[in-house]
Amino acid sequence: MSDTVAHTIVISNEKGGTGKSTIALHLAIKLMQEGYKIATIDLDGRQGTLSQYLANRAMFCLKNNIKLPTPQHFKFAPTDNYSHIAEHSACVEMQINSLLPLYDAVIIDTSGHKNYLFELAHKSADTLITPITDSLIDLNLISEIDFNSGKAGKPGVYANYVWDVKKYLASQGKSYLNWIVVGNKIGSTKSRNKNIVFEYLEKLSKLYGYRLCDGLKDRVIYKELFLEGLTVLDLQHEQLKRRMTLSHIAAKQEIKQLAEFIWPE
Ligand SMILES: Nc1ncnc2c1ncn2[C@@H]1O[C@H](COP(=O)(O)OP(=O)(O)OP(=O)(O)O)[C@@H](O)[C@H]1O
Ligand SMILES: [Mg+2]
Repeated sequence: MSDTVAHTIVISNEKGGTGKSTIALHLAIKLMQEGYKIATIDLDGRQGTLSQYLANRAMFCLKNNIKLPTPQHFKFAPTDNYSHIAEHSACVEMQINSLLPLYDAVIIDTSGHKNYLFELAHKSADTLITPITDSLIDLNLISEIDFNSGKAGKPGVYANYVWDVKKYLASQGKSYLNWIVVGNKIGSTKSRNKNIVFEYLEKLSKLYGYRLCDGLKDRVIYKELFLEGLTVLDLQHEQLKRRMTLSHIAAKQEIKQLAEFIWPE
């Protein structure tokens, strides 16, 4: 971990609902529990899922007089005024840069579509985490697949965009982007569809330059604690002591595995 400059972790995919905000939150809490100083930035501030989750968490802590690891949080929504975009983008960039000397990592949650804040996030990334479900629709964002020949076709929209980001970062002297494609909401039963998606993701990883993380299964625990702002990682806190099931233990392990992908050996 760097002594002076935060590692910037961007959670993104050009696709809604794949679990970006859920992963941003769980990763932030996990890294804080590991002792890292973390700031989070919600660049999807209009929807504001991550911001609301953290606001619920702060309220829960206040009401129950309990101290849980909670990152310093910032929220930005894109301006609707086209003539202010350049100014607003520069402001947000300044805010991100001002956090870098203060934290070990800054985790940025993005919207599921391209806009100037989405692009700014990618230009700031050291690690890029792309959640993907076990759906052929999600796979299509990474690569087109010719199902007659069984071969990968053209890069998908998002893989193409990440290629452009890598070229931009290289032009700025940053030769390595730690791109992690992570499964999310993965069904626990065996399915042909799931196998096809992951076989292709595995095959394409070298070509597109990402590492594939098994990621998070489809579990109720990732969604049922939103109103309290809690995560499965908090359940054993001494003031909570909630019952842990086998699924909860497995969920904690999944988050741990993802966290381990962030700083490659
Ligand atoms: N591993 C999981 N298991 C079960 N439900 C999940 C999991 N991950 C996310 N969800 C649920 O899926 C939905 C979408 O998740 P989330 O809001 O994190 O996605 P997103 O990519 O941030 O969406 P958006 O593009 O709209 O910002 C939410 O209802 C969330 O609770
Ligand atoms: Mg989101």
